[in-house]
Amino acid sequence: MKKISIVIAFSALFVAACSSGNDNNSTESNSSTNSNSTENQTPSATTPESNANAEMVQVPAEINELLNKNTCLSCHDANDKVVGPPYKEIAKRNYTPKQIVELIYKPKPSNWPDYPSPMIGLPNVPKEEAMKIAEWIVSLNK
Ligand code: HEC
Repeated sequence: MKKISIVIAFSALFVAACSSGNDNNSTESNSSTNSNSTENQTPSATTPESNANAEMVQVPAEINELLNKNTCLSCHDANDKVVGPPYKEIAKRNYTPKQIVELIYKPKPSNWPDYPSPMIGLPNVPKEEAMKIAEWIVSLNK
């Protein structure tokens, strides 16, 4: 009989130990919610965009008309790469207006290795109009 009462006493202790352990655990898990406060420190990542579009070229109406009439607009944009390079980029090559006129009549695809479909020469563009376009392209390089 003594053995049985000892076993009962042990199991009672065991149950008591378990339930007090559970109480401790529940108070610990409550305190963990505080760790989320670091979210407020996430840095904003908006800087690269503002650099890229710093200087958007506006095409004057007169020039836009010439570009449209001579089909340049189907392959070129002033600011963005389309089939051909943006006029903003061409301006950085420091051509004279005369050189640009010649390149409109006789393009040199080897100047632009990143553009797989080459420009076809446009000999039908009136020289006066080609010159106005060329002078405008040169003026983009400030
Ligand atoms: C069929 C598409 C297409 C049309 C139309 C077109 N271009 Fe191009 N252009 C290109 C491509 C592609 C390049 C770059 C590769 C090359 O020179 O062949 C280019 C390059 C140029 C260059 C740079 C030349 C150099 O060697 O640095 C100039 C300037 C230019 N184009 C002006 C014009 C003008 C002005 C017109 C309209 C009169 C025009 N382009 C019409 C596709 C075109």
